[in-house]
Amino acid sequence: MKQSQQAQIDELRSLIREHDYNYFVLNDPKISDYEYDQLFKKLLQLECENPEFVTNDSPTQRVGSDLVKDFNSVTHKTPMLSLTNTYSENELLDFDRRVREGLPANDNIEYVCELKIDGVSVSLHYENGKLKTAVTRGDGTTGEEVTANVRTIRSIPLKIDLKEKNRINLDQIEVRGEIYMENEAFRKWNEVREFSGEKTFANPRNTSAGTIKLQDPKLVAKRPLQIFIYYLYSYSSELSSQKENLELLKDLGFRVNVNYRFCKSIQEVIAFCRVWENRRSELPYEIDGVVIKVNSLKHQRILGSIAKSPRWATAFKYKAKQAKTRLNKITWQVGRTGALTPVAELEPVLLAGSTISRATLHNYDEVQRKDIREGDVVVIEKGGDVIPKVVSVELSARDQNSKKVSPPSVCPECSSKLYRQEEEAAIYCENKECPAQVKASIIHFASRTAMDIEGLGESLVNLFVDLGYLYTYADVYSLKEKTDELIKIDRLGKKSVSNLIEAIEKSKQKPFDKVLFALGIRYVGSGAAKKLADHFLSLDALVDSTEVKIEEIHEIGPSISKSVKRFFCDKHNIKLIEKLKAAGINFALEPKKLKSVSLAGKTFVLTGTLASMSREEAKAKVQEHGGLVTSSVSKNTDYVVVGESPGSKFEKAQKLGVKILTEEELIKMI
Ligand code: IVH
Repeated sequence: MKQSQQAQIDELRSLIREHDYNYFVLNDPKISDYEYDQLFKKLLQLECENPEFVTNDSPTQRVGSDLVKDFNSVTHKTPMLSLTNTYSENELLDFDRRVREGLPANDNIEYVCELKIDGVSVSLHYENGKLKTAVTRGDGTTGEEVTANVRTIRSIPLKIDLKEKNRINLDQIEVRGEIYMENEAFRKWNEVREFSGEKTFANPRNTSAGTIKLQDPKLVAKRPLQIFIYYLYSYSSELSSQKENLELLKDLGFRVNVNYRFCKSIQEVIAFCRVWENRRSELPYEIDGVVIKVNSLKHQRILGSIAKSPRWATAFKYKAKQAKTRLNKITWQVGRTGALTPVAELEPVLLAGSTISRATLHNYDEVQRKDIREGDVVVIEKGGDVIPKVVSVELSARDQNSKKVSPPSVCPECSSKLYRQEEEAAIYCENKECPAQVKASIIHFASRTAMDIEGLGESLVNLFVDLGYLYTYADVYSLKEKTDELIKIDRLGKKSVSNLIEAIEKSKQKPFDKVLFALGIRYVGSGAAKKLADHFLSLDALVDSTEVKIEEIHEIGPSISKSVKRFFCDKHNIKLIEKLKAAGINFALEPKKLKSVSLAGKTFVLTGTLASMSREEAKAKVQEHGGLVTSSVSKNTDYVVVGESPGSKFEKAQKLGVKILTEEELIKMI
């Protein structure tokens, strides 16, 4: 019985690995998401029933739950070198000359050209086909161990099949590659963050770099990281060329960029660099050049390296996409939290295939630092960044009479007073009814990840606010009383108005956590809203709570707790909520799922084996009474329930003085 279950588990794992490969590496799924989910669920179930068969390389074990407090420092077995840069054809010819000078006169010299992906490099160690460690580049000599985070990238195999590849010994290998994020995936992810009031990132590269160093692998798993592998080193046998290595890596199931080129001469290399300079905007990810490598590994060894760069490779760097234009005016845009962002209104200019007429200036500090003035000729750049930015000012072209920019004294939209939060670069408009703020907050309220009101997008919200139908997001629910008037609006018709009203009515069923997110409390993104809702279960409980209580929730810090308290103390917001309540919006988690709320706000950790029920059952019961079960003990834990042969959590609870419960005591509570 056990044996056949083990066989079934093995079979499911290799099936899932194959489908992961098809989906994440080849981008060519062979089964539907539903079918995949079924396989995954089956495996989860079998592993749950047979925990002794759970291994670290199972597809179910990609995302660990433990937080990584400090990353281990790891010294690279072979240093992760950087590349010398070349910027012109002449420099490439020089590189070729140096390579020839360093090698036997009659040797045939070949190159491999690869796209230089703009991300962060990582080194992966596999032992007997299993992923053991993943290490960042660091300073090239020593990096940080980020295995738990890297394991969440689904195109990275946790296990590689060495059976058929035994012509070479690959028991101990190191592969290296570039972790990156595709532009579109990044854009969407950033957009959701912006809507959630979370900090947005400037470009995919920074996001990848920041993500790989997060302490919570669960968060990493939610971000769309990708990888291309470009290097293979075997500690047990000698390999012969870069081209063969790339092919072998592909065979082993690694994700290798297809756009590499084997070149027989430096002229072919130059042609490749030229082609991709023009074609780079067709790629779904950012590249900043081409990496040129001498193909033969024997040649690479002969050439060796100087200082921190190999003599056998170079990077041909593409220039950042820049343009010069006149900055006509600096305007200030008001966001939904009231923050003012300076925007450069530019003389339209063509840059990397699109016409640019605006660029962000981030905040007033930045304008001051770069001393950007109206009328200046500025250099703008579009790197991997979503929005073009102003890089510098052409001081020689500056008008003698130009003046330093001062921040607006009142809100440019509503003329209200402005204020600056301590330690923040942003300037805020204090008027909650400021039309720009109102528009942005209603757009957020109706957005897909909040109340999901289909049809109520940016342009309609702007129109309704301008026409005086909406003053706050709570007014959305009174629109149905104005149906007759709305139908008369040019762009709308009977059908679209009735669809809109229907979508608005439907949104009343949105669960409490989405509602909480939709309110637009600063720093409360969708994740934080979910945590707050799960913990407090109702708005009333949250409003009655204290900052200290709020911060007891795992991952909720002082900026969120302060912001929550500030939000609910505001008379304007209280009125909004009353209106929403009257409209029938959910301000509590569905009560029917709960037997009681006797454990609301209490956090439990379970350790050891319980006699009368499984840990899963115990967890479900605690939740039925509104309690929260988490996996690690901290000073915020209310109770640690201790079963037979408890783990280290018991010791930790004792150390921290957390209340210990026996199984009997727990049963009395549930
Ligand atoms: S080879 C000595 N190949 O560019 C070999 N690097 O400065 C160095 N990169 O740190 C790495 N795509 O982060 C190589 N196809 C590619 C690459 C690549 C991007 C990055 C990598 C490295 C930097 C070189």
